[in-house]
Amino acid sequence: MRKMDRVEWEDVQGIVLSGYGELKRSAYLLWRFQSGNLPRKKEWLFDLTRRLTPSQPGPSSNTQPARNLALTASGLRHLGVDQSTLNSFSFEFLEGMAPARARGAPIPRRTNILGDLEDSSPEYWHWGGWNEETREIDGLLMLFAEETGINQLIQAEMTAMADIVDGEPIVLSGQLFPKEREHFGFEDGFSQPKIEGRPKKSKGANSKNGKSEIKPNAEVKAGEFLLGYENERKARVTNGHDRDIRRNGTYLVFRQLEQDVPAFNTFVCDVAKKIGETDKWVAARLLGRGMDGEPLIVEKPNGSEEDAKNNFLYYYEDRAGLRCPIGAHIRRANPRDSLGPDPETALHLSKMHRIIRRGRPYGERWEPNGANGHGDKAERGMLFIALNADIAGQFEMIQHSWINNPHFNGLYTGTDPISHFPDGEGITIQSRPSNLRVDRAKPFVTVRGGAYFFLPGLRALRDIAAPA
Ligand code: HEM
Repeated sequence: MRKMDRVEWEDVQGIVLSGYGELKRSAYLLWRFQSGNLPRKKEWLFDLTRRLTPSQPGPSSNTQPARNLALTASGLRHLGVDQSTLNSFSFEFLEGMAPARARGAPIPRRTNILGDLEDSSPEYWHWGGWNEETREIDGLLMLFAEETGINQLIQAEMTAMADIVDGEPIVLSGQLFPKEREHFGFEDGFSQPKIEGRPKKSKGANSKNGKSEIKPNAEVKAGEFLLGYENERKARVTNGHDRDIRRNGTYLVFRQLEQDVPAFNTFVCDVAKKIGETDKWVAARLLGRGMDGEPLIVEKPNGSEEDAKNNFLYYYEDRAGLRCPIGAHIRRANPRDSLGPDPETALHLSKMHRIIRRGRPYGERWEPNGANGHGDKAERGMLFIALNADIAGQFEMIQHSWINNPHFNGLYTGTDPISHFPDGEGITIQSRPSNLRVDRAKPFVTVRGGAYFFLPGLRALRDIAAPA
């Protein structure tokens, strides 16, 4: 048996292991550095690194605020990282989520891959898009606190960076609603890959997995989420030195995804009436789970509640998609054992395309008839965050080849009902004697901003902060 890597969790930023679920409020500071004044930037970074929350021991209490820092390629450059070191980062990170588009030039390849077209085009993004003024983003500071502590935390960090940022940072506010429900009303965030070698909370979480040879909740190699460790392809990203600034870091994908809740609800209600089912039945077929996270495939009892909710596969239980539609959000986003020559190989292949999700809703909850005073007009959505060691092979692959793909797993038409990509052809719910086809006028989600970041290890940040 191969030896498992020991992960240096004390050097890895806390958001890799934790969504800070006890800290219901969060803020995301996005900024552009002023040019010059490298010594002062390094001083700020050195001080900030001391405040950042590691994966281990993590915050000393569940209610203590947490801070994590991620930087774009231009942010690293501003902090003095030289071009040859930058070249060791992946191409998509260096190019960015929305590569600049010259007037009249074709849409860049990456924008097409992500399906950021029509209303979701970077042309209209509030930040990180093609607009010169809001384009460049250098850093992302993620702050997590209890209800009462968040404003103070934001103020303190804004003051600490005031003399090195260009203008005011953009501040996006996130929050966790009861039962971690996102705006469409579903419980969210509990199906996450388990990193091999993670500190275990309790023994034997996987020990009651039954006799099945294939374990749906099987662990994924640390190298899929942290640079420097072996991944599922038995490879590792390293320059062979201890002082590799990529070590213990990971790429962080950040997208502001606006959700049109009234449009989603109306769609669900109309479809339900048309086919004689309940709203809940229809909504569950779009996501692939019920509102409380219950799977549509029979689950098998297993350790924790979270494990039980994830203890299912598709191949033997529901190859035809009669329980969980083939095009449902969770089946596209993590096809488990359903795509491949055989289920075992398929499950192993799917481990190469997992992401850790740390997104949170922004904006007020939608209330029927604008009961909270804002109703339909207010902006709300998901501040989507994905962590992965290979943006092209993980986040982009999921978004492009599965979520946006009308021919996913043998389908004829339709894209992910929960995502932003326009399909024009409707959604298919597998049924007997014939499939149900429902038309969706336009997506319920629109991309409003985004960027690719790197979430460095703490030692790497101290190295970057060291005087030039
Ligand atoms: C506003 C947009 C989105 C909403 C409201 C949303 C909502 C949800 C919900 C409610 C779940 C089920 C709960 C869970 O498994 O934790 C889920 C699962 C998931 N989503 Fe999304 N999602 C959104 C966008 C995305 C995007 C853009 C991606 C990736 C490109 C993605 C990837 C995933 C993955 C990988 C899972 C877990 C599937 C599994 O392991 O079974 N989601 N999402």
